[in-house]
Amino acid sequence: MRKEKVVERFVKAYGALPEAVGSAPGRIEFIGNHTDYNGGLVMGVAIDRGISVALKKRDDSRLCFFNPKTGEKYIVDISRGIEPQPTGANWVNYPLGVLKYMVEAGLDIDRGFNFADFSDLPTGAGLSSSAAIEMSTCMAVASLYNFGVEKAGAVRIGRKSENNFLNMPCGILDQGVSVFGKKDSIVFIDCLSEEFSTCPLPKGCRFALFNSTKKHALVEGLYAERHSECMEAAKALSRGGEERPLRFFGLSALEESKGKMSPKAYMRARHVISENARVAEAAKLLKENKIAEAGKLLYASHESSRTLFENSCEELDTLVDLLKADKNVYGARLSGGGFGGAVMALVSPEFSQADAERVAKKYAEKFGATPKILECRADDGACGELL
Ligand code: GLA
Repeated sequence: MRKEKVVERFVKAYGALPEAVGSAPGRIEFIGNHTDYNGGLVMGVAIDRGISVALKKRDDSRLCFFNPKTGEKYIVDISRGIEPQPTGANWVNYPLGVLKYMVEAGLDIDRGFNFADFSDLPTGAGLSSSAAIEMSTCMAVASLYNFGVEKAGAVRIGRKSENNFLNMPCGILDQGVSVFGKKDSIVFIDCLSEEFSTCPLPKGCRFALFNSTKKHALVEGLYAERHSECMEAAKALSRGGEERPLRFFGLSALEESKGKMSPKAYMRARHVISENARVAEAAKLLKENKIAEAGKLLYASHESSRTLFENSCEELDTLVDLLKADKNVYGARLSGGGFGGAVMALVSPEFSQADAERVAKKYAEKFGATPKILECRADDGACGELL
């Protein structure tokens, strides 16, 4: 469906059929909030919404990006290297950054390409549209130039681009889930060893997403601030030796070093360390089919994000509280970076549209705006093909 749409868009924009298509899903962060860039554990779900990219080689060294919102085309000449584009055209930096690090990994681009994309992912909902455009570009480019890229390699390219090209100090959760996603499964990532595995979702579990549509104006700065507080704590815990990520430390080590870091760094580390333990426990419980118990960990995760990591907000807390009152909800928590965005709920088959609407109505009574409800299924990860 998405593939047909992107081909149609490409033909409208360029008057010719594309030669390669790549697709990548968005993701839900199931549990493991801000653990990834701390070398921690995290679980996520690739969803049945995402982004597709269509490409065709050109005869020159240029890239041409079609903007479906304005109908305009943006041209970048890459004969003298690939550099970030200025504000106003920064959406092209997502595909561009990926291309730069694919070239660094050995891709030989003889000619540029024409580019069009199509998305059925709501933006600003914390579903990682950025990873979806990065990984769909990566798969499409790999197909177009016949360049072999392993799944874990694609994830690394995406992270490098985020960290160095886009200045976003994130970890590998978003790209990892977008690439390693599997139908009816959850992706488990050990971000220290960069190992990816999947486990089947227990039968009957579904996901409901409630997008608050609220977004903190300073969200990127706040993410970077949390990142540096975690690094401060890791440095203090490493006691002047080789700096090791928070994954290496337990709560008792943290208590011992409490006086060597700022109170905020201590709180962030306390969240990350306890969250790693919750992820490991949740994985075990899901394998044993103990869904209700795993659900409780989702609520505990949210509570820790709210009180220790301080990346929740009143809107998200209200959604979690309303969901908690529903017997058909196993658990709910903020999903993704935080400071606005969406709450995800793990629900039983009995959770109906009417239940979801009741939550939305109560939320609207308090905040005057209705959250957007999105039901989604766990789906396969990114792929690419030559047409
Ligand atoms: C964003 C980042 C991820 C991860 C989450 C929080 O989605 O892109 O790398 O840090 O926030 O867990």
